[in-house]
Amino acid sequence: MPGLDELYREVILEHYKNPRNQGRLDHPDVANRGHNPLCGDEIEISLDLKDGRVADIRFQGRGCSISQASGSMLTEAVKGKEVAKARELVEAFKAMMRGDAVSLDGFGDVEALQGVRKYPVRIKCAMLAWTTLQEGLDMYEQAAKH
Ligand code: FES
Repeated sequence: MPGLDELYREVILEHYKNPRNQGRLDHPDVANRGHNPLCGDEIEISLDLKDGRVADIRFQGRGCSISQASGSMLTEAVKGKEVAKARELVEAFKAMMRGDAVSLDGFGDVEALQGVRKYPVRIKCAMLAWTTLQEGLDMYEQAAKH
């Protein structure tokens, strides 16, 4: 990632080397797998929900440092949060990656990924975990309606 701000790069690489909440939950309420069609890299996210909150979350996958670090950061950002708040964070993340001015409140290390905006081809890497979470929540809520 030449050219990426040094501090951002360090935070991203630290998550890549020491991923948080890695693995898969045994009986998750929500599980979804996503892949980046540009490269084939994958990520799987599983969640336990309780009382409208993300009680637990794991991710696993294979791919570049940005995609996997983003998954790790996502799990830290949404764990323990209300599902509605988790959805808000997904929207804020997508807006941040589009270049919109957003509040980084509750983002934690996620803000390091804003440096990736300078590299359009890597934006999909950063987004992979977030779109996978969003689709998983959408499918869960659709299923609950039927
Ligand atoms: Fe595949 Fe980044 S190069 S997700």
